[in-house]
Amino acid sequence: MPLSATSARGSGRTGSQESSPTVTFKFRCIGCASINSIAPQDFRCSQCGHLLEITDPSWRPPSLNAGALKSIWRERRSSHASLDLSGVWRFRELLPVPQSGEHVITLREGNTPLYELPQSSHRTGVSRLYAKHQGMNPTGSFKDAGMTVAATFARQAGYGWVACASTGNTSASMAAYAARGAMRSLVLVPEGKISWSKLSQALDYGALTCQLRTDFDGCLRLLQELVKRAPVYQLNSINPFRLEGQKTLAIELLEQLEWQPPDHIIVPGGNLGNSSAIGKALLEMLDIGLIPRLPKLSVIQAEGANALVRTLREADGKQLISVPAETRATAIRIGSPASWEKAVKVIRATDGACEQVSEVEIAQAKAEIGAEGIGCEPASAVTLAGLKTLLQQGFIKREETVVLVLTGNLLKDPDFTMDFHRGDLFKGTPQHRDRASLRSLRRPPVVLDATLDAVLQTLERAEKSNPTHPNA
Ligand code: F0G
Repeated sequence: MPLSATSARGSGRTGSQESSPTVTFKFRCIGCASINSIAPQDFRCSQCGHLLEITDPSWRPPSLNAGALKSIWRERRSSHASLDLSGVWRFRELLPVPQSGEHVITLREGNTPLYELPQSSHRTGVSRLYAKHQGMNPTGSFKDAGMTVAATFARQAGYGWVACASTGNTSASMAAYAARGAMRSLVLVPEGKISWSKLSQALDYGALTCQLRTDFDGCLRLLQELVKRAPVYQLNSINPFRLEGQKTLAIELLEQLEWQPPDHIIVPGGNLGNSSAIGKALLEMLDIGLIPRLPKLSVIQAEGANALVRTLREADGKQLISVPAETRATAIRIGSPASWEKAVKVIRATDGACEQVSEVEIAQAKAEIGAEGIGCEPASAVTLAGLKTLLQQGFIKREETVVLVLTGNLLKDPDFTMDFHRGDLFKGTPQHRDRASLRSLRRPPVVLDATLDAVLQTLERAEKSNPTHPNA
């Protein structure tokens, strides 16, 4: 069942009225630029095999007026209509929207906070440092912003089954949206390589969950074959509707910054869908006149899963260099990222950078974000670690404004957090010797007799041992 653009319609372009929807979006191949109304099951160009993206040739003034859009979106923040309560669909003028609002599957995704990071600001010297926390989405990760759009189109197309390969967050999100949309979901995850927390979400939301004896890349390859053989709709970020929804992260961020672009946005890189989506949103916002200039978009990978870093350094971004991926940040344990070409394009278009960080740097940054009272999962912490690297290199200046995209919630990977605080994270690995740099951040639980004296003594010891605490 190929997915047709003509089965969907863009909303009215000049107001929140839905009265006269017109079909405007198409699928464009990122390789040969051919444009089509229909996408094949694997979302690859039938002529050259490159990935597709969604394009809307009607996005030109005066059909889209930046000032009018800003005020419509602001007005919707006080609306109680279902679509307006979603931090994704509130920006529907820049999204493909379904034939009817009734098709929309929403869990009130988006609407995520932009936090200041006072301690990290102090430590790094970057006074305007913010975290856009996508872990505050309904299933605890940025995936929900894309899933609401892609699941909606799956339902509109009449699919009974949706499927994904995942390192955990996509599967949790897909299972939730499928359940809300009365569709069945099939999850393919690498056995033993995703956190229990994410796996348990998929189970609870009712997915058929297969733990495959392979890695994420193996799961994704298998899914690509499966969608050609079975009537299942794939909800990986290869699906361009996902990326359309994920664009709203950047739109909402700019709205929160009153449309003043930051100098830098830093995002983790795994399968590279999110960086591609953010970059696409930035380019579209510039094109429409919503922002006067582009922030630099930088992608950070774990050292052990650095396919994009190597692709840019060793192959000038021209061909993918796959790597055997290994990192405790399991969300980005990906060796052969599907959207690498889209990511190369947006990094270059925004003059961004691509860097890698070590396991120790990730653990340290994660603990530092936790100590801000915010927390995130390990993959998200590469952003703060990457900021430190980019500062050292002089690519980012201390007086610039920097936004870190935190992609997942702290509760997504409690094993990592417990191992870190107990000092077990690097046990039996070569990084074990580096643990001194992490010791001051560790807060292992203390087991005591249930007496007042025991608690008082512990309190005193803690007071003496941590005189540098901001409140000491
Ligand atoms: N951060 C988190 C928490 C993730 O779950 C992922 C990807 C990424 C960053 C990387 O984003 O793939 O768009 O570059 N997780 C996917 C999954 C692969 O299956 O949940 P990306």
